[in-house]
Amino acid sequence: MRTRVLPISEASIDEACKVLLAGDLVAFPTETVYGLGGLGLNPDSVSKIFATKDRPTTDPLILHVSSADLAALAEDEIIAKPIPALAVALVSQFWPGPLTLTLPKGPRVPFGVTAGLPTVAIRYPAHPAAQLLLQKLGQPIAAPSANRFGRISPTDASAVLQELEGKIPLILDGGPCTQGIESTVLSLSGSNPTILRSGAITAEMISSITERQTLRDARNLQQSAPSPSPGMLQSHYAPQTPLYLAPTPIEHFDPPYQYIFYENRNSKLPPGAYLLAPDQNPSTAAQNLYRLLRQADSIGSPAILIDPIPESNWAPAIRDRLQRASSGTALWQNGDWKLLPRAGA
Ligand code: TXA
Ligand code: MG
Repeated sequence: MRTRVLPISEASIDEACKVLLAGDLVAFPTETVYGLGGLGLNPDSVSKIFATKDRPTTDPLILHVSSADLAALAEDEIIAKPIPALAVALVSQFWPGPLTLTLPKGPRVPFGVTAGLPTVAIRYPAHPAAQLLLQKLGQPIAAPSANRFGRISPTDASAVLQELEGKIPLILDGGPCTQGIESTVLSLSGSNPTILRSGAITAEMISSITERQTLRDARNLQQSAPSPSPGMLQSHYAPQTPLYLAPTPIEHFDPPYQYIFYENRNSKLPPGAYLLAPDQNPSTAAQNLYRLLRQADSIGSPAILIDPIPESNWAPAIRDRLQRASSGTALWQNGDWKLLPRAGA
């Protein structure tokens, strides 16, 4: 199959709708990462998404919708009634944007989307091209990140092509994603709101809305409890080159390794050094993270070493992805790097 890459225009969005309505898949930009979209209410399109990504069918998908009107979604039987008041408050604050909510599903959502769960993850993306596509299509799009399973999420059209060339007919090219890290996933189906995946919408931002309902983080729940988010594996988002996290800023950067620095600390960095946040802005670090991991991964070096991520609003999400992507810790000892494997990597 030939994969076409088209810039965003009225015509390319119309073409994407045609492809989707024929039951095929389209990769499209969102503000977080590129999604691999298919008709969310059509079980065959949903199966195609899993097959194309090689994703286990036990890992549920996010349904992307075209408005923050939860009552209308309940009327359309996408989510169940009654709608939690907290969901309405969160949506009015953070949608459109990088917050995914899991809520009891309505009868029109196929169990393929939810991996058999009684809840469905929904999100109204902020990217104008994603919104236009959803509006024109007039129905929800199921879309995981547009990478093969277990790989780094794509943040531009060339990364999608690298992942899925020949496997899908169309990529809508909206340029680089402005955020660069997947949405925050928040479960509202249990007794307490629980963060299943950290992202740009932070625990502090959510707590300002949840008020008396204590916010939990799934990473702090007991390991023995059943996983509230079956897709959140300890190892995920990984480059093929083993990645090691340096606990203190990297001062030694000789070959054969690749080094990703947080910022330019005025040491003599090698030409073309990977800098996550050349402007020291944490949102720039998030935006660059997957692109630089992908670049460093393409060199064929025996390992990638990365600087520690300084504290900021973005730090929990970036550190979470790096933890999951990492093979262990890199320590400089007696004039050499010691690469220590992490438990469970
Ligand atoms: O930013 C994003 O969320 C991107 C863009 C394309 O929207 N999408 C994305 O999708 O990251 P994906 O499939 O790569 O990640 C979806 C996450 C997985 O961790 C999955 O386990 C979780 O959402 N999830 C989906 N439905 C769920 C449900 N009903 N209950 C718990 N977790 C769910
Ligand atoms: Mg993903």
